Parts: sequence; structure tokens; C-alpha cells
Amino acid sequence: MPLNTLVFRPGRTLAARSPLLYGQFIEHFHRQIYGGVYDPQSPFADEDGMRTDVLDAMRHIHVPILRWPGGCFVSSYHWKKAVGRQRTPVFDKSWRVEDPNTFGTDEYISLCRKIGCAPYICTNAGTGTPEEMSDWVEYCNLDSEGEFARWRRENGHPDPYKVRYWSIGNENYGFWELGAKDAQEWGRLVLESAKLMHHVDPEIELSAAALPDLDWNIHLLKACGQHLDWISIHKYWNLMAQENDFFSYEESMACTNDLDTDLRKVRGLLTAMGLEKRIRIAYDEWNLRGWHHPNVHTIRQGKTPEEYLLPRDKNDINQDYTMADAVFSACFLNTLNRNCDMVGMAAFAPIVNTRGCIFTHKNGIVLRSTYHVFDLYVNHLGDEILDGWVEEEETMTCRSRSGRLETVPVLDVLATRRSRDQALVIAAVNKHPSEARTLTLQTEGRLPRSRFRLLSVTGESTESYNDIGMEQVQLKCTPWQTVTESLCPTLAPHSVSLIEILPDTAHSIS
Ligand code: AHR
Repeated sequence: MPLNTLVFRPGRTLAARSPLLYGQFIEHFHRQIYGGVYDPQSPFADEDGMRTDVLDAMRHIHVPILRWPGGCFVSSYHWKKAVGRQRTPVFDKSWRVEDPNTFGTDEYISLCRKIGCAPYICTNAGTGTPEEMSDWVEYCNLDSEGEFARWRRENGHPDPYKVRYWSIGNENYGFWELGAKDAQEWGRLVLESAKLMHHVDPEIELSAAALPDLDWNIHLLKACGQHLDWISIHKYWNLMAQENDFFSYEESMACTNDLDTDLRKVRGLLTAMGLEKRIRIAYDEWNLRGWHHPNVHTIRQGKTPEEYLLPRDKNDINQDYTMADAVFSACFLNTLNRNCDMVGMAAFAPIVNTRGCIFTHKNGIVLRSTYHVFDLYVNHLGDEILDGWVEEEETMTCRSRSGRLETVPVLDVLATRRSRDQALVIAAVNKHPSEARTLTLQTEGRLPRSRFRLLSVTGESTESYNDIGMEQVQLKCTPWQTVTESLCPTLAPHSVSLIEILPDTAHSIS
């Protein structure tokens, strides 16, 4: 059998992927909201102050769900200050800046409506109360009963927003989080919050901040597992809160051996507690790159803007988002798809600016390398995960940031079927920094008469990136070719590809 042979069974579906797996996250941090998606002064702004170029880009990758308003921001956020005609600017104690509160719940819902995604609201479990959370559910989901639904109506929004997805708190286990809790306190707070929120709207789906930690999760699930539909976990591999120190391509590839570590721990715990069929995982913050915000998640707070504010601008340097980000993100999306029996939702953090896939500037937007990976996966990959494995798997050695030598598979491959047209679509990531690789496809049984093409995201080098007026990373597509006896496409170095195999009988709609 040749090196790197994918053996897959078109007739054996392992699981169907939830559309929410390609979710996104946006936080009131730096230029994500103000100066990002919401910029009434921008020439691109629509009647509600939203940038139409950003909205178009979000629509093109069919954002299914958008988590908001934070992140750390929410742990001192009081939603009532950002609703209604009287908006009170507040000092955001989490990120230590003033928030004008001109973008609040009503604007957020309007944004979700404009791009056609499900809202996913994260509540303040830091300085907030269970009652404040349930008041928020009243405001959003009750028709006309009570002061908060009436307030929504007075503000010009008669129809309930029907917000189905809610997360109680954000990373409340962390020393960096305002109003952090210990595991016992957390279990109790989530229980009382869930009771109040369900008493307002029994239809909502609830998640709560969790992590791949036995003690934390056992307390949480014992205290209120019966109230939860989801548990939320987060992961950034290249942490840069204090130092804006980017992993190299090789170090990033070394991290691809650590893509499902946390997932396996949480899966194990949920299964051990007999909850694996009832509670799903919401991987609602993930990115290779952690955000840069020095001297805030520290005991000694920065005193001058130079110490804690201006460094945040470094998050917006487009040159830093290369093929490492695209290749790593595709490998993680493959991991999420492989675990889609338990992972029902995920959110890339964030979508706009900072480490996001869309960058805004006054004359337009830049679609970074990760954006094209979402375009590829959302618009072309199948939604049914097929049984498949790689035989004669080739590996390479990558040195991680800690100096450890990681033996990493060169290819990351996933077999899927697309329910809309029965196309077989193989995701094939070549992590090799400089050499192309041939992937041999072998199916159980013969493929019907078909044609295939390759859609790829790649760039000249591992350091290729997109910037204002410059596009080194693009989504390219080969012409259709007839499938002959053997199907052995060549994958460019440091590339993300989909092999689309369309039976002649099927109508291709893409
Ligand atoms: O660095 C950004 C922060 O990372 C998010 O606000 C938080 O949820 C995570 O720790």
C-alpha cells in the first residue's frame, strides 16, 4: 500500500455534523465591535451602523451562530446599561476602557438577523447575579409580560428575539476572570441561574463555563447537570497575553498533536457520568493564537497606556496571520468534525480583528488566511462524517516551543459526504512546510462513475499572508476531471485541500 493511503467507506456514516460547528465569537475587545463590525462613521456603514463589507463576508461563510458579548468582558457587563434610548457609557473593568454602550443587545440581535445566524448570549457570572441573567432572558424572549419585555417593546422591538442559546458565565475558573469562583461556588451559582432562566423560558438551551478538569466539572455536573444542555470549553495554543510572541510554522504544527486532548478528557467524564447522550460540548472559543493584552491578567495592573492599552494594536498586524494559522485551523476543524457526535457547537475567536479571520480598515476589509479555510469548510465540505483511516501514515518531527520533539502525521485527512448532492468530499491537509504529498484514495467497493476537482487554500510559503491591497493566500479550484481507476491527488506543501468527488448522476450545485 502506498504511503499516505486514505481507506474510506462511503457506505458507513459515523455521525452527522451540526451546522453550529462553524460558529464564531465576537467580544467587546479592542476593534472587534467598535471600529470592527459596528462603525456608524464608516462609509461602509448601513442604516444601523453595521459595516456592509463585514456583513457580506460573514454571510459568505454562513456564520451559523455568533457568541457575544464576551469573553472576559462579560464578567463585569451589565446588559441594562446598553439598552434603550438612554445609553450610559461605562468603564469596562475587565478590559479597563470605556464602553460607550451604543452596541447592546438590540444591536447585537439586529447584527444576527442581518447575517442570518443564531444568537448565543454569554451572561455575567462574575459581578452579575442569577436574577440579572434571567431578566436578560425576559427582555429577549418574553412576549409582553413584565417590565423587561415591555421595555423591549418600548425600544421599538415588539417581537420576542427567541434567543435559544445562552451560556452562564465565561472562564469563571480563571484567576484572570473578574468575579472568579471556586468549583463549589460555581456549581451553586450555575444551578440558581439555570433555575431562574428556565423559569422565564423553559425552551432555552443552557451551557456553563467548564474546562477539561475533573474536579471543576464533577462539581458543576453534580450540582446542575440536569439543567444543562451544553458545557463550554476554550482553547488557545499559542498564549500571548503578556508577550506577543508568535509560534513559528513548525511550532504550530507541533501543536497539532494536541488538538483533541481536552476533548477526550471531557468526553471521558461525560461518558463516566452517563451524560454523553444528553450534554454536548460547546467549544465556544478556539484559536491557535491567544490575544495580546499585557498587564491586565496580572496582579500588578499596567499604569500607562503604553503598558496595557497601546500594545493591543499589535493584535492587528496582518503579517502575523500566515499559512500556519490556516493549516492549524483546518486540522482543528477536522478534529471537531471527527468528534461531532459530542461537539455540537464551536466558535472561532474572534471573527473580526484581533486574531480574527476578517480585518477591517477604513477603505475596506482583508480576508486573512483562516477566512478562506472557513469558506472551504462551510461551503464545500460534507456534513456526514464517513468511516475512514490513513494507512502507511507518514510522520515528520516538529520541535515545539518547549523544545519537545513531536512526531506529527504529515497529512490530516477526513472523509465526508455532502447530503445536499451526495458528493464525497475529502478534507486533506498537508502540513509539510516545503514538500508536496500524494494522497491515495481507496474506497471499500468501487466508486460510481464520477468526476473530481481540488479546492485548495495555500500560499507560496509558510509565511504567506494577506494584507491591504495584497493577497498571497487564496482559495483556488482545479477544473473537473473524470475519476479513473486510481485517484491520487497531489497536495501542495503547507496547504488545505478538499477533494470533491461528484458521481455523474448527481447535480453539482456548487
Ligand atoms: O484573550 C481573550 C480572552 O481569552 C477572552 O476574553 C477569554 O474568554 C479568554 O480567556
